[in-house]
Amino acid sequence: MKHYLLSALLFFTVASLSAQDGGGNRRQRRPSLRPRNYLQRPPSDPATADTEGNHVNAHGGCIIAYGDEWLWYGEARPARGFTSEGVGLYVARRSSEQGKSLEQGPQTQHALDSLEWENKGIVLAVVDSAGSPIERGCIIERPKVLWNERTQQFVMIFHSELKGRGYEAAQTGFATSSSPYGPFQFHHAQRPNANIWPADFKKKDVRKAQSLKESDFPKSWTPEWIEAVARGMYLKRDLEAGQMSRDMTLFVDDDGTAWHIYSSEENMTLQAAELTPDYLGYTGRYYRIAAAGQNEAPCILKRDGRYWLICSGCTGWTPNEARMFSAEHIEGPWTQHPSPMRGENAEKTFGGQGTWIWQPSPGKYFFMADVWNPRNLLTSRHLCIPITFDADGTPIVERK
Ligand code: GAL
Repeated sequence: MKHYLLSALLFFTVASLSAQDGGGNRRQRRPSLRPRNYLQRPPSDPATADTEGNHVNAHGGCIIAYGDEWLWYGEARPARGFTSEGVGLYVARRSSEQGKSLEQGPQTQHALDSLEWENKGIVLAVVDSAGSPIERGCIIERPKVLWNERTQQFVMIFHSELKGRGYEAAQTGFATSSSPYGPFQFHHAQRPNANIWPADFKKKDVRKAQSLKESDFPKSWTPEWIEAVARGMYLKRDLEAGQMSRDMTLFVDDDGTAWHIYSSEENMTLQAAELTPDYLGYTGRYYRIAAAGQNEAPCILKRDGRYWLICSGCTGWTPNEARMFSAEHIEGPWTQHPSPMRGENAEKTFGGQGTWIWQPSPGKYFFMADVWNPRNLLTSRHLCIPITFDADGTPIVERK
C-alpha cells in the first residue's frame, strides 16, 4: 500500500517530465527522466582522471583502436539535467609504457586508469538550429564509432532523442567524419526498417502479428500481454514508422557485415539490424533477440565462433542484474545464460550498466559499464572489468 502511495506522490511530482517520456502505457515500463534514485549519494567508485585531472566525461561510450591510439567516445553530459552536450572524445597512446603493458601484460581491473586519456573535446556537438534532431536540449546516448574502409569515413551511430520529447522519438542518429577527432557532421536520424518484417518472419508470423492490437491488451504484464509482445504487437504497431531504437551497440562481423543491435518494441525486444556497406542506413535484414525479454544496454563479443551478448534489464539509471545470451549466428537462435557477473554486488552488476566490450588485443576483453549518477550525470563512473572464460568458453566478469 505504502508503495502505491509513494508511487502516486512521485507520479504527481514528476508528471510533467513523465509526459515527455512518451506517455501512454509506456510510463509503466520506461522509467521517467527523473529516476527513482534521484536522491542517491554521490558515486563511491573512484573517478577516472584525464591528463588534466578531470573525470572522463564520456558515458555510454566505446573504445576503438586507430593507429597508435585508443579512441574513447562517449556521451558528454552536463552536471545538471538529462539533456546532451554532444559526444566527447578522449585519446590514449597504445605505444606508451602503460599502453604496451595493457596490450601485452595480464588483464587488470585498472586498465582504464593506467592509460593517460587526453581530452580532445566535443566531436559531435549539439546545434542551435531549431528543429534539428540534435538541437540543444536533445538527448544523444550510447554513441559508437566505426571506421568505414569503403568510404574512408568514421561513422558514429547513436541513440537520438528529440528536444523536449523525452524518450519518445526512439531514433538512430548517424554522423560522419573523415578524421577520428571530428568534427563529426550530423547525417540524419531515423527509425530502422520501416515497412519491413524481420527476416525470419514467416507468413504465419506476419499474420499473427498483424492481428495484435494494443487496445485488445489494456493490462500490461499479463501472460497474454507478454505473449502478444513476443508475437510482435509493437513490431506491427511501428511497422510503418520504423522500429523503435534506444540503447544500442555496433558490431562488425568477420565477413565485414556491420550490425546495429538496439532495444526496440518499447524496450521489450532487442533487434539486430544489418547496416548498409556505408554504415549510413539499413539493408532491411533484421532479427529479433529475446522477444519480450525486456533487455537493454547491449554489449557483444565474438569468440571461437560464438556470439555473446551481455545486457541489462530496464530500470533506468538504477542498476539491475545483467543478462547474457549466446548464439552461433547473429541471426539467432539465442540461448539465455545466467549473469556472468561475479564478486561483491554482482547481482546489481557492481552498480553499473554495460556499454561496451573493449578488446585491446586479441583474446583480451573488458566489460565496460557506467555507474550512473543521475544527480550529476557527468560524474557517472566507469567500470572496466576483465572478462575471462570458463572451460566451456562461457564469459565470466569478476570484479575483485
Ligand atoms: C537507461 C539507459 C540509459 C538512459 C537511461 C534514462 O535505461 O540504459 O542509456 O537512457 O535509461 O533513464
